[in-house]
Amino acid sequence: MDEIINRLKKDIENVKNSQDMSEIKARYLGKKGSISELNSKMRELSNEKKKEFGMALNKIKADANEIIETKRKEIEKRILEEKLKNESIDISLPSTSIPYGAPNIVEKMVEEVEDVFMSMGYDVVDGPEIEEDKFNFELLNIPKGHPARDAQDTFYIEGEDILLRSQTSPVQIRTMMKGKGEEAIRMICPGKTYRRDDDDATHSHQFMQIEGLLVDKKVSLSDLKGTFDVIAKALFGEDTETRFRPSYYQFTEPSVEMDIRCHHCKGEGCNICKNTGWITIAGAGMVHPNVLKNCDYDPKKWQGFAFGFGAERLAMVKYNIDDLRVFYTNDLRESVNFDRKEAE
Ligand code: DAH
Repeated sequence: MDEIINRLKKDIENVKNSQDMSEIKARYLGKKGSISELNSKMRELSNEKKKEFGMALNKIKADANEIIETKRKEIEKRILEEKLKNESIDISLPSTSIPYGAPNIVEKMVEEVEDVFMSMGYDVVDGPEIEEDKFNFELLNIPKGHPARDAQDTFYIEGEDILLRSQTSPVQIRTMMKGKGEEAIRMICPGKTYRRDDDDATHSHQFMQIEGLLVDKKVSLSDLKGTFDVIAKALFGEDTETRFRPSYYQFTEPSVEMDIRCHHCKGEGCNICKNTGWITIAGAGMVHPNVLKNCDYDPKKWQGFAFGFGAERLAMVKYNIDDLRVFYTNDLRESVNFDRKEAE
């Protein structure tokens, strides 16, 4: 037995790889290996000797296993080290560049507007995009058959009553109804709106509006002007001039268009302001008494102003973009461009 072990120790020194390893294992511990063959010697022994021999046999098996196992680990370690040495990664190779995007510019615009209004105590609220006729039109003082409905060519979903909202103004009604004629309101509602327009550089069947409503006691048109001034300066710079132009909406009286002095040409006239020196960025007005009444607010006690921005229009004006479709085509190069324009 000692002889076998000594031979194994010698043989194992010459083992270089895992193939030699399995050979040597078979030679000593395999079915016909020299250690296994000792089993047959058992038969020739007396019962007494058998026990002693058996114990010695177990020990030599264990010793052989240990010797082989130690060597196996040693070889594996060496192979791994060699691999690590030879297969090192060449970090000097140029990597493939992965273009990364930037937030959609309309979304960023909305967040900017939200920040300014929140700083003035406004809540940001939500409303459904699938809307009822009564909220989208009727309670906003636009009865059935009114020509104003034609200007907002609407997607109807079910009959004449369920539609995709053509404006965010119905959220005014929903908010006032929650106030039950008793609570003052300051809210803005950014959201998607839909109209049956053919898509072109300035029209889209889906677009984003930012609605606003303030209801309180003793509210006047000058409060609206002051509010508009704050938002215009925050978005377009401290030296931005603002003006109101008379307009007409069914749910406000009086109604105005809110203009800013063109920040590109400073009012001298350019292609962005179509040589007028002014750019319209929102419709607005004092909430019509009928609308207040429809929502249980007594127009003798309560007044309010409302406004509606087109979010894409704001972004187009701010970043000098002349085609609305780029906001929706998901071209990464465009959003990266906007980022750069903003940085400039
Ligand atoms: N809803 C109007 C539109 O889509 C925009 C608007 C104008 C909203 C005046 C208002 C407002 O709240 O007071 O054309």
